Amino acid sequence: MAALDNMLTIDDLKRRARRRVPKMFFEYADSGSYTESTYRANEEDFASIKLRQRVAVNLEGRNLSTEMLGKAITMPVAIAPAATGGMQVADGEIKAAKAAEKFGIPFTLSTMSVCSIEDIAENTTAPFWFQLYVMRDRGFIERLIDRAKAANCSALVLTMDLQILGQRHKDIRNGLSTPPKFNAKSLWQMMQHPQWCLEMLGTKRHTFRNIVGHVEGGHDLSSLAVWTASQFDPTLNWTDVAWVKQRFGGKVIVKGVLDPRDAQLAIDHGADAVIVSNHGGRQLDGAPSSIRVLPEIVDAVGSKTEVFMDGGIRSGQDVIKALALGAKGTFIGRPMLYGLGAGGEAGVTRALDIIRKEMDVTMALMGERDILNIDGKNIYSNGLVQ
Ligand code: FNR
Ligand code: LAC
Repeated sequence: MAALDNMLTIDDLKRRARRRVPKMFFEYADSGSYTESTYRANEEDFASIKLRQRVAVNLEGRNLSTEMLGKAITMPVAIAPAATGGMQVADGEIKAAKAAEKFGIPFTLSTMSVCSIEDIAENTTAPFWFQLYVMRDRGFIERLIDRAKAANCSALVLTMDLQILGQRHKDIRNGLSTPPKFNAKSLWQMMQHPQWCLEMLGTKRHTFRNIVGHVEGGHDLSSLAVWTASQFDPTLNWTDVAWVKQRFGGKVIVKGVLDPRDAQLAIDHGADAVIVSNHGGRQLDGAPSSIRVLPEIVDAVGSKTEVFMDGGIRSGQDVIKALALGAKGTFIGRPMLYGLGAGGEAGVTRALDIIRKEMDVTMALMGERDILNIDGKNIYSNGLVQ
């Protein structure tokens, strides 16, 4: 797609997505909870970390490949689980999964995705990761875990920070509340994007397909949303990690850890890795950025487990900074969603290309040839410069 060649930054993709995606769905991606202070901090705090330049180092034969959870990957960036990828563009999660597979990085499918576990399995060959929300209906969760196993998912990402939903004002104003209120305004928003509408009319995937037909009474977006609101489990606790792990029988990554004590508890209950995350600033508004708390979590559990992080990564430089502060790998949410909105599979590939090239040049200008060598020596004061 020629237009995508002009996209030089993740922000360029975001601007293009804003033009192409109906407002309610673009803003669903581009929002945080309440005042959005945590959402902003996630991006802003990366800027205060300063990288060390070194010169006159032989830069031939550079390497960005590494591993996350024993999986060989071409760069330490995985696709984060994100609800409604399939509303940014038709069949969005399939497109993102294909881009990730071709790139050689992990793709994580959300419980609340539009395309189902089976849709992804049928359209890709590489094993993917499945993100699980534990809901009150444990029978449904058992079946969901079994479906992930049957689809050859190689790890479960268990999200712990959404027992109840942090309010996003834009969603309510756009009628994306629970239940969704589709009105003349939202229809008008969709009609202003004929290309988007046309592509949507060409697919049968319009609702939460992991859930539709798998729970009683869940037939459409509206009743599903009501169901979901009543299903997210406020009693979720650490013993559930062990239960999920036992049922799945494979590796479990606990997502949504922001405190060293929770990181330790996750490990005590069987987590194979943790993701330092504030849900992209969508849950506890007022929480610090992920990058700010990453070092203390690495200090607490980094020698015992793999610590990943997400939140605010918009460039290869940001990935390098997260690695320098001890992350073994990173996840990107919105850069993937903006890529989908900007250009479907090619848009996600473009987002990954942008990040990879930035990472390579940044590493080189820091006098490093191997991503595995990035650590505290590559930044000033081994932490955030105030
Ligand atoms: C998310 N996130 C998320 N996380 C999760 O575990 N399950 C989910 O269904 C979703 N859904 C979701 C939807 C949208 C629109 C966004 C933006 C995010 C959180 C996501 O996995 C990740 O933690 C953040 O997106 C990371 O921050 P960045 O990369 O978006 O800044
Ligand atoms: C969100 C949920 C669904 O952040 O994860 O919107």
